[in-house]
Parts: sequence; structure tokens; C-alpha cells
Amino acid sequence: MKTQVAIIGSGPAGMLLSELLSRHGIESLVLERQSRAHVASRIRAGVLEATTVEVLRENGLAERMDREGHPHDGMRIVWAGRDTFFIDTQRFLGKRFMTYGQTQVQEDLYAAADRRGQTIFDESSEVVLHGLESNAPHVSFVRGGEGHRVDCEFVVGCDGFHGVARRSIPASVLREFEKVYPFGWLGVMARVKPLPDVTYANHPRGFALASARSEKLSRFYIQVPLDHKVEDWPDERFWPEFKARFPKDLAEQIDEAPTIEKSVAPLRSYVAEPMRHGRLFLAGDAAHIVPPTGAKGLNLAVSDVFYLSRALGAFYKTGSETLIDGYSAMALRRVWSSVRTSWYLTNLLHRFPTASEFDQRAQEYELDYLKSSQHAQAALAEQYAGLPFEPA
Ligand code: APR
Ligand code: PHB
Repeated sequence: MKTQVAIIGSGPAGMLLSELLSRHGIESLVLERQSRAHVASRIRAGVLEATTVEVLRENGLAERMDREGHPHDGMRIVWAGRDTFFIDTQRFLGKRFMTYGQTQVQEDLYAAADRRGQTIFDESSEVVLHGLESNAPHVSFVRGGEGHRVDCEFVVGCDGFHGVARRSIPASVLREFEKVYPFGWLGVMARVKPLPDVTYANHPRGFALASARSEKLSRFYIQVPLDHKVEDWPDERFWPEFKARFPKDLAEQIDEAPTIEKSVAPLRSYVAEPMRHGRLFLAGDAAHIVPPTGAKGLNLAVSDVFYLSRALGAFYKTGSETLIDGYSAMALRRVWSSVRTSWYLTNLLHRFPTASEFDQRAQEYELDYLKSSQHAQAALAEQYAGLPFEPA
């Protein structure tokens, strides 16, 4: 088989990349380890930055999002029942964000791929990347019990944190930066009406977050110790604990219902540099992981793919290699900005088991400063809303 760009992974990064490349007239082929049903069943975060919304709208991928998604003027921070303040991205920046589930984004991307007849080989195993430092790389894989080969001009690793692409970059070239947090998040989905705002709670019992999927479907999270599992949190334990972490007036607005999904995930920050080696590019979770506190994961996948599709579009149109040579540095500027914001919000809002009294006081006075300073709130609003894309 031959194609111009071989994409590894059919998550949001891989599927959006195939869409944007096709709009540049570039042919691609997607190789995915899991079944389509497995990929489509994943439940992830649900906050779309303004730039992500623009990319989806500009590429004909936003019809359902605009119908079912919910725009927000900002997000609310509530603090141990003491204070509450609204980080108003609309007032400070004229920018809103959208709550719309990644599950739905994935469905919309698959539907668009079907409409344009995109080649996706799911349930492909033993994917191996070859000749990345040549001008004629190829990918071998096994599917249906048979070995296959795809000759291509570029390979893009959209295969997530546990994928094969990043591991194909020589250890002598790859630089990795990691920070592991001493807690995880328990996330649930419940058919109850959401709070009016995406609301982050800092409480002595631990962090909590109330978000939305629709008028009748909420996504709730609480910070839990690293060794906790879903089984440790039956509904009868989850609901009182979740509500205890919010001020009374908000807790009273939270209805209870049987949870329809429950999962525990550890928090980490991770960045791999560079995001390009020879004819291989990395995009999305394959190159970076952020703690979900800043809701940046999906949005970074979108910004990587926006930059890379623009760069490959320029290469195929004019032969210029300027943008593909500049891709890694440009993508990493936005990655590190989001990694820092997610690290800041994680430190601001969680209870660290090893925090000293000094650490706790410093966190409380950071919240006091945010509460009292419009400048501090404007700076956080700018980072939470997401920075604009850099021009080519
Ligand atoms: N071969 C083929 N496919 C693979 C391989 C492999 N060796 N390894 C992983 N994959 C597939 C996974 O099955 C998955 O479908 O690559 C895809 C990677 O998708 P994601 O992990 O969703 O990563 P990405 O597309 O970058 O999207 C990032 O997803 O996980 C969330 O929080 C994250 O919101 C962020 C978004
Ligand atoms: C979500 O809606 O799932 C969500 C919202 C905000 C976050 C993380 C997740 O910071």
C-alpha cells in the first residue's frame, strides 16, 4: 500500500489530522490498535477552548457541537466554603469556551471520516515504523492475521502516551520531562442537571470539580488517594463526599442519581521533545500529558494537529520545508504554556498529602490574591481560555 501520510492512532488527534490533511488535498491512512467501538466508548474531558471550537467550525465539524454543546463565559473557583469567584474569560478576553464531551467529538470525527471515505485500519497490531530518517519511510503492521506494509512520505504518531511512535525516536535524541502528582481523580457521569458554571472546589477534604455534558447530564470529579480504586467509591460514599467539598448553597443544587460511569485516573505532567524526528512527527498525547485540572489535553491535541496540517499543507503545495522544520518548536511553545497552566491550577486547588503548613498558607494566600486582583484573574482567564494560535 502507498499513501502520503501514515497516521498511527484514531483518537481525536489522528482523526482530526486525517480530516485537516484531506482539506489540504493530502491523502492519509489511519492505523488503530483497538476496535472502532472501543475507541468510541472512551469517556474523557469535555472543555473545548475557543481555538478548538474555531478549528471544528472552520472545517465543517461543529454542527452537532453547536447544537448540543454549552457555551460558558468562564469558570468558577469555590474555596473551602469561604469564597467564590468567577474567572470571566468573556469579560477579560471576549472569549468563551464550550462544554462538549470528547466522546461526542470522536463520534463527529468518525462520521466526517466516513463521509469522505477515509481509510482507517482498526484492530491493527504490531505497528512498526521504518526508515524514519530516510525520505521513504514505511510502516509495517499485522491485521486479520496477515502482515502488511504501507509506504509513505511522512508518519505521524497520534498514538497516545502508550503508543509506539515516541518510542521510535532514538533515546539519544529524545528528551523527556515528567512530574507525577501524589493523587488521582475519581470521575463519574450522572443524569442530573449540572451546576450553572464549570466549578472547581478547593476544600480541606480534597479537590472536587463539577462540569457538564448537557442540560441533564453532569460530569463530576473528586481528588482521591493514588491507591484508591473505583470499588472503593460506591455511590453511597461518592455523593456525600462530593457535596461535602462544595459550599452549602451549591451542594444544595446538586441532585443525586445512580452514576452511569465511574473511573479513576492518576495525574501527571509529561512532555517529550522534540515532536519531530526525520519524517516522523508526534501530535497529542503521544508527545505530552497534562493533569486534567486545566482541561488542556484535547485542546493541545487540536493545536498540534492544526500546526502540523498547516505545515504539511505548505510543504505539499509549495515544497517549502520551513513550517515542517518549525513545527516542533511552535507546538512546544503552546504545549509548555498549557503544561504550566495545568501545573499551576493543580497546585492551587488540590490538597497535597505532603504539604507543609507553609505550603498550605501559601496556597490560601494565592487564592486570596486571585479573589482580590482583577489582574490575577485576567492572567488566569487568558491561560484557561487558551492562547491564540501563532501565525505561520
Ligand atoms: N498502534 C496503533 N494505534 C495505537 C497504538 C499502536 N501501537 N498505541 C495506541 N494506539 C491508539 C490508541 O488505541 C488510541 O485510540 O492511539 C490512539 C491515541 O488516542 P488518545 O490516547 O485519545 O490520544 P490523542 O488522540 O492524542 O487525544 C488526546 O485524548 O486521552 C485523551 O486526555 C487525552 O483529551 C486528550 C486526548
Ligand atoms: C470535564 O467536563 O470532563 C472537565 C472539565 C474541566 C476540567 C476537566 C474535565 O478541568
